[in-house]
Amino acid sequence: MFFLCPLTLGQAFGLLSFSWNVKGLPHPRDTMALSTELKKQTQLREVAGVLLQATSVDNWSQIQSFEAKSDDLLICTYPKSGTTWIQEIVDMIEQNGNVEKCQRAIIQHRHPFIEWARPPQPSGVEKAKMMPSPRILRTHLPTRLLPPSFWDNNCKFLYVARNAKDCMVSYYHFQRMNQVLPDPGTWEEYFEAFINGEVAWGSWFDHVKGWWELKDRYQILFLFYEDIKRDPKHEIQKVMQFMGKHLDEAVLDTIVLETSFEKMKENPMTNRSTVPKSILDQSISPFMRKGTVGDWKNHFTVAQNERFDEIYRKKMEGSSINFCLDL
Ligand code: A3P
Repeated sequence: MFFLCPLTLGQAFGLLSFSWNVKGLPHPRDTMALSTELKKQTQLREVAGVLLQATSVDNWSQIQSFEAKSDDLLICTYPKSGTTWIQEIVDMIEQNGNVEKCQRAIIQHRHPFIEWARPPQPSGVEKAKMMPSPRILRTHLPTRLLPPSFWDNNCKFLYVARNAKDCMVSYYHFQRMNQVLPDPGTWEEYFEAFINGEVAWGSWFDHVKGWWELKDRYQILFLFYEDIKRDPKHEIQKVMQFMGKHLDEAVLDTIVLETSFEKMKENPMTNRSTVPKSILDQSISPFMRKGTVGDWKNHFTVAQNERFDEIYRKKMEGSSINFCLDL
């Protein structure tokens, strides 16, 4: 089945103007200034062959000279692989299953996003500097772009990988609703962009392979989205042990319940409902969209699937990593 909802960049900004008009009719000049600013933020620029948001690239020297500490834990993911999910799991473990403590802030503010930069707001690096240790941070960077101090300090890394097909589908819908990422075009166009790594944070293949190859050389706990979905308690226990925590069965059960898709979809601290529509338009696609394994079957044509499998074989040749594509 095809899911076609192409929105041009202009239309996306049209939606943006509309949402402002119904709220307070800004002067057209202000709308234009906002559009120009958002368009600037929509741009992607390359760093060593990896596309990143232009605002992060502008801040690149600050990001690269980030000073990691030996007790930092870095949550690492390719976009749309379950970042929010693992963040909530980690925070629930850190807070010993205390739900109220996890409500202290929206999830985006709990773990500084080290490559995030959108002046005049404080950057991810600045937020991390203000955070007391032991810090829990997050990134979407591939291994070769990670600030070197993370390796030098032998930090702990928690990587979550999601199968490429579901990741592509999730990213496509996310780019449709995210007004500060480029418009994804049609599903067919997006399919090409994704397999060629022409999306923010670059190639899924390079990202996953890079982290997988380093998993035995550094302190990397490598998890799969599909495993967390299949047996959340088991995977949450692994995270708990990796973090050096000991929680009893009842607390673990609470964490499993509170981090379920259904609970997180209703939770304003995790579902992005506090983000303005001018940035994330959830009427186009909800942030907490489906949270399943195998939705790719509703999007890939037979021909696309065959082509993808062929490309996957070539790009992942020699790698021992295995993904589950259906539960
Ligand atoms: P879908 O678009 O397939 O629904 P990220 O946080 O890295 O941006 O990833 C978002 C994806 O993770 C979305 O996938 C979202 O629904 C899914 N997700 C978030 N919380 C989840 C949970 N508790 N259980 C399962 N999937 C979850």
